[in-house]
Amino acid sequence: MSYSNLDGQNHGLYSNAPYNESTGFITPARRPKRTSNWIKFGIPLAIVIIAAAVVGGIIASRHKSSSSPAASSSSQSAGEKLAVGRFPTAIDSEFMRPIYPSTTDSAAFGAPTLSSSNDQNSWPADPFQPSSPDVLAVRPDRPRLIAPAYKWDALPSLIANDPYLQAWNATIFGNATAFKPTAPVLYFNDNSSGVLDNAREIKARIKAFAYVYRMTNDTSWVDRAWEEIQNAAGNGTTVWGPDEDRWNSVHFLDTAELSAAFGIAYDWLYDVWTPSQKSMIMTTLLKYGLQFGVTQVTTSAGWWRTNTQGNWNCVCNSGLTMGSLAILGDDTSGVAEQLLKTTIDNANQNCAQAVSDDGTWAETANYWYFGTTGHAEMAASLLSATGSDYGLVSSNPNFGKTGDFHMYVMGATSLFNYGDHGPNKYSSTANSMIFYASQYNQPQYALFQRDQWDAADPWSMFWYDPRLSGAYWDGKSLDAFFDNGLDQWASMRSSWTNNNALFVAMKAGKNSGHQNHNDLDCGDFVIDALGTRWAGELGSGDYNSPNYFVGDTQTDQRWQYYRKMTEGQNTILINKANQDVNAAPTVKHDSSQTTQGPTTVIEVDTDSTAFFTTDMTSAYFDATSVKRGIRLLNGRKQVLLRDEVTASQGVMWRMHTNATVSIDTGGTSATLTLDGQTMKVSMLNAPSGATFTTSKAVRFDSDPTPPIPDQDNPGVTVLLIDLPAGTYTLEVLFNPQWPGSVSYVTPPSVSLDQWSLTSHN
Ligand SMILES: *[C@@H]1O[C@H](CO)[C@@H](O)[C@H](O)[C@H]1NC(C)=O
Ligand SMILES: *[C@@H]1O[C@H](CO)[C@@H](O)[C@H](O)[C@H]1NC(C)=O
Ligand SMILES: *[C@@H]1O[C@H](CO)[C@@H](O)[C@H](O)[C@H]1NC(C)=O
Ligand SMILES: *[C@@H]1O[C@H](CO)[C@@H](O)[C@H](O)[C@H]1NC(C)=O
Ligand SMILES: *[C@@H]1O[C@H](CO)[C@@H](O)[C@H](O)[C@H]1NC(C)=O
Ligand SMILES: *[C@@H]1O[C@H](CO)[C@@H](O)[C@H](O)[C@H]1NC(C)=O
Repeated sequence: MSYSNLDGQNHGLYSNAPYNESTGFITPARRPKRTSNWIKFGIPLAIVIIAAAVVGGIIASRHKSSSSPAASSSSQSAGEKLAVGRFPTAIDSEFMRPIYPSTTDSAAFGAPTLSSSNDQNSWPADPFQPSSPDVLAVRPDRPRLIAPAYKWDALPSLIANDPYLQAWNATIFGNATAFKPTAPVLYFNDNSSGVLDNAREIKARIKAFAYVYRMTNDTSWVDRAWEEIQNAAGNGTTVWGPDEDRWNSVHFLDTAELSAAFGIAYDWLYDVWTPSQKSMIMTTLLKYGLQFGVTQVTTSAGWWRTNTQGNWNCVCNSGLTMGSLAILGDDTSGVAEQLLKTTIDNANQNCAQAVSDDGTWAETANYWYFGTTGHAEMAASLLSATGSDYGLVSSNPNFGKTGDFHMYVMGATSLFNYGDHGPNKYSSTANSMIFYASQYNQPQYALFQRDQWDAADPWSMFWYDPRLSGAYWDGKSLDAFFDNGLDQWASMRSSWTNNNALFVAMKAGKNSGHQNHNDLDCGDFVIDALGTRWAGELGSGDYNSPNYFVGDTQTDQRWQYYRKMTEGQNTILINKANQDVNAAPTVKHDSSQTTQGPTTVIEVDTDSTAFFTTDMTSAYFDATSVKRGIRLLNGRKQVLLRDEVTASQGVMWRMHTNATVSIDTGGTSATLTLDGQTMKVSMLNAPSGATFTTSKAVRFDSDPTPPIPDQDNPGVTVLLIDLPAGTYTLEVLFNPQWPGSVSYVTPPSVSLDQWSLTSHN
């Protein structure tokens, strides 16, 4: 079978594709931006069709002030939805972001809506409706996990009428087709993330093979799934781990993900396995997965059982739960039952509490993918198998906010990717957003995710509600502040739908309490504009570095690796020393509360703004005051960064950039060029002696030597201002050189304590 994607090209195999540090995904290499044929020809046509429909009164006109997004009466018929199509050209863009058509036609989009009235095209009710759900009394039919038979039966006609389901189905077929001729996943223990990559890759393959089998009845997919199963059981042609512990239980995430993979294989292909195959899958699942699970839940080996703010609790409980649900009833050992009696309570007490009260994932924006994938898979499996999620969705009233966290932490080009980025994602996606949309009645979560490049996934096929319509950005504030003391951070932008938009994010927050995935980075920021990232992050160090994950105290070796040190961040450095691991900054912020309307073109007033300031004195050892603030100026076209510092040792302002930096004569301004665009950076009221210089992104010679050498940061330049001890006000103005005739403002000097929404008008 040959398969080609929307843009007419084959994409697919991980093996030829490099790891993308900025997204944390395996992706095709950065490619020059171009417009897909679909955008070129599809959008104008679609807009014409919609405009005609509106003229003809087919699409109800919209309400701008509806308080409940879900209450809208607007909707599209299946034919209209297919005509409008979708916007997934992400794989053609440099940063894998969706490219939305530029239009001021408000009829093309509408408020996020889940229309229940008029679309015949919705999932039927689940025939399994137990009056009192019991985790040990599962539905009578197969599959049990996430995708019950009645959903498979309904799927083909839903696919026929929905452009997203249509495209995802095709992509999953494409993925399965690409995996099919390759050898089963080879065992590779990297000694830091163990065999986690292998486990997730196997899980992704099993999902794809089982999906395509169920959609075609072609048993060659079952045979291919069996080959993968045999291999990971150690019964294939290559060695797969040590005989006594093939799934690497010392790094239990690996065991958990493989338990989930085997559970899916067992359950989704239940009707087609021979009795002996079923027995072999169950034997292996018990021997290398669930039996080790019993050891984890009954001994101190299971340290993750009390791990409340990490992805581990979600992933481990989810894998054990999915594996156990799959064999419950067939398993005569009692192991599945024993595990189910403990994983659910434990996940409610930990995994479900993992997000801060503002929705922030405490590890990092990248680790959110692992934690929420585990959480959503576990809740969805329990719901389908037993009729109840046992509180996983609702026991933490703030969990649903984590969809907003994800949307706001995604910038115009890519994530605000502070801290560690994690191992490869493979089967971990952002598709929990699609599940959360229904569970938390937040249609915009699914509307946001459905255009992302990683949306095509068997889970999405069953989580997506085809009655969804509208634009996630309609009515959405351009700014948000997440100010739980653990992670205080700001997200501000000029548009949700323009990849060239201005996006600024800055964090303060605590330097510990993030599962040792953070950097010493209070005051760190990123800036996107003109389609590229001007101030960026260095990402993870080498996870195999000695003591890389030990960082609770100031002298820990994690803080000797450049990418984790304060000097490797976009912030103030004092005495060339790391920030205090016990820092506890305070923050202030405000926003004009500007929201985007229904269209993809947004014009904001010149006084539309947002700002975020922090007193981060507690992060420094040789300073009596360190305050930093960042704000948008001139109708969100410029950025002002201001620092007020009194230090008894040298003060350095640092920013890491992929741009080529040219310092202008006089030294107080610089011209940055990147991806064919220009950003002017200038100091306002520069203190005497303050000039821009540049350096490589490497440790100072005076730093302690880390146990192993740092990673190179090729192409990265540090733009810096280096000053002796003293009291300074540093103001740096960022002027992206927007196309057209834009007039730039020079803001007044206003002390951070006096900043307000109008202080710079
Ligand atoms: C599936 O294929 C799409 C499109 O080629 C690709 O972007 C994606 O990475 C693949 N997913 C998996 C799990 O291989
Ligand atoms: C799913 O995609 C495959 C491959 O493109 C296609 O052959 C099949 O008809 C699709 N299924 C449905 C129900 O449309
Ligand atoms: C992992 O450790 C084992 C045992 O020390 C060693 O044989 C193997 O080469 C290591 N693998 C990697 C990728 O470093
Ligand atoms: C697969 O087989 C089942 C059971 O016989 C049948 O209901 C279904 O329509 C078949 N699907 C396809 C795509 O042939
Ligand atoms: C693998 O082989 C072992 C030993 O023969 C057997 O017990 C197990 O069931 C097999 N598992 C699979 C999935 O083939
Ligand atoms: C440089 O570009 C790479 C690739 O897009 C990205 O991962 C990295 O974060 C960028 N670095 C900086 C400092 O912007």
